[in-house]
Amino acid sequence: MNPRMAPRPLDGRLYTDPAVFGDEMERIFSRMWVCGGRLEELDEPGRFVTREIGGESIVAARTAPPEDDAGSNRPGSSEPGALGINGTPGGATRDLAAFYNVCRHRGARVVDECAGTARVFQCPYHAWTYGLDGRLIGAPHMGNDFDAGSAGLVPVRIGAMDGFFFLSLAADGPPLAEVSADLPDLSRFTLGRLVRGDRHEYEARANWKILCENYNECYHCAVVHPELNRVSDYRNSGNLETGRFFVGGPMTLNGGCNTMTATGQSNRPDLPAIEVADRTSVQYYHVYPNLLISLHRDYVMTHTLWPIEAGRTRIVCEWLFDPDTAAAPGFDPSDAVDFWHLVNSQDWDVCARTQLGVASRGYRPTAYEESEACVQVFDGWYLDQMGL
Ligand code: FES
Ligand SMILES: [Fe+2]
Repeated sequence: MNPRMAPRPLDGRLYTDPAVFGDEMERIFSRMWVCGGRLEELDEPGRFVTREIGGESIVAARTAPPEDDAGSNRPGSSEPGALGINGTPGGATRDLAAFYNVCRHRGARVVDECAGTARVFQCPYHAWTYGLDGRLIGAPHMGNDFDAGSAGLVPVRIGAMDGFFFLSLAADGPPLAEVSADLPDLSRFTLGRLVRGDRHEYEARANWKILCENYNECYHCAVVHPELNRVSDYRNSGNLETGRFFVGGPMTLNGGCNTMTATGQSNRPDLPAIEVADRTSVQYYHVYPNLLISLHRDYVMTHTLWPIEAGRTRIVCEWLFDPDTAAAPGFDPSDAVDFWHLVNSQDWDVCARTQLGVASRGYRPTAYEESEACVQVFDGWYLDQMGL
């Protein structure tokens, strides 16, 4: 099925209107599986993180040791062995749990930290105490008539795929397996076993869709990213690939280059299972709504986008490596990290510049350029989600 392609760049109010932003949180971020980050952050029982999704604070925690450390290596996979895939309607997978960060007594926020390790979660107001799985295990002086069994933290679905965890506020939404079945086969990048080599957090003064649109085209690369364009010419984009939950495709690297660093080279070995074509290209995918994943022969970079308000977005960028490479003496990811940190900063700059423009009454968008097909697909998908 051909995807809907937006006929022209989106109207300005879709990037600036707080009511539209609220609608997006409802129609997109509260309905879809949102990428929470890497499972590495929840690697041991008691490890937890909080995430802001659709205006809600959500706690995700590991309740028991991982049952299958390797997880699934293939986004297209739905094997039963995949880590916690297809979170149960109740919210708990076998070894992960997620819930609204809202006390069942009188509603106080329970957890303040972005991440940490806990044995229990205790509300700071009247000390109601919850287990890692959200069950109420202590409520001072509440007496025997009180039904503690029905007063656990309200569950949110959590699922795992290829070393990532995903959260869904939609209690009766589709299983995560539906997303994974739609994605291209990336098993050769062994995503499930990669480990984090570095992480940067940014805040861009731009709407989250402007960041997505910017990721989805390289028309701007020669102008905005001269360093990148020396390694990967902006005209070298390959076939557009698209599905219900993603858009993307490969870009071919310039002659003599085989990865994205300032020199186009690195001394890291290839990820163990990559194919010949991966030695001269990079794959870029946007998994809707908030995961951007860039796959190189020797490392993977991910961005997760966290909308704050219509004109502001938090971005978490992570660089993932093969565990053997990362454990080797002298491992140094800085060539990949510094290169993309520069490119990231250049991107957030032009995104902020665009946010200024779309807020103007003089904003009268005209047309996409041919190489912006992925942007047209993303914008078309967005219009569909919003019923526009
Ligand atoms: S509001 Fe949490 S214990 Fe009272
Ligand atoms: Fe860019």
